[in-house]
Amino acid sequence: MTLWTKLFKINKKSMDFIPPGRWVDLHSHILPGVDDGAQTLEKSLEMIKYASETGITHIVATPHYSDLFPTPPEKRASALKLLKDAVCDAGINIKIIGGWEISFTDVHIKRILNGEDFGISGSRNYTLVELPNGINKASVIEGFFSLMIEGTKIILAHPERNSLIQQDIDLIKELRFREVMIQVDAESIVGVHGPTAKKIAFELLKRDEVDSLSSDAHSLSGYKNYKKACEIVNNHFGKEIINKILNDVPSSIAGIK
Ligand SMILES: [Fe+2]
Repeated sequence: MTLWTKLFKINKKSMDFIPPGRWVDLHSHILPGVDDGAQTLEKSLEMIKYASETGITHIVATPHYSDLFPTPPEKRASALKLLKDAVCDAGINIKIIGGWEISFTDVHIKRILNGEDFGISGSRNYTLVELPNGINKASVIEGFFSLMIEGTKIILAHPERNSLIQQDIDLIKELRFREVMIQVDAESIVGVHGPTAKKIAFELLKRDEVDSLSSDAHSLSGYKNYKKACEIVNNHFGKEIINKILNDVPSSIAGIK
């Protein structure tokens, strides 16, 4: 073996993506038949099996609660139980945790302010929120503040895909100063959501303003892209960032000790 070959092997090894011992996917449409994610239990299990083989240890199931998908809480609860039982029966070593993805509209936010549980892991400590396109900065800051004084911290879902953030990336710094957590989608990293979302996602990573890299998977391809995205982020930003956004911060949000 030549010196060059040896050096290349050492260098390549140092860049290999090694999944953290605990890997928490904070955002996934894994529940069967409740929204635009997995439509059947078989499809859910196919996604979970692949996720487990990739090294993911925990998945927070976050169905939409929006105008388009007004998932009733009882429907979500029964799908969650069905899936947890099926994962156990199939002997897949992965933990499924309950959550929601809330559309940031007056109607949906009002239900949180009324004290209803739309948080993560049965707690109101954190709420995963997606912004509609066309919303303005003042509404975001005012609305987030009203939620936070009610005792829930905001996790902002995939800001890199939102037109407001695409036009004003510095808003993320302001939101993080107000303790908003930032969740970036894996499929933005691999380019599924277009060049602008990809560029913003990379810039947020470069600024160390990302708290969680999640799949937001709606199907098996979402998990395949999650793996690819982690390899890309590992190569560009290193394993310290990987550990932070796959394990440290999402574990803390999901209450995993
Ligand atoms: Fe989502």
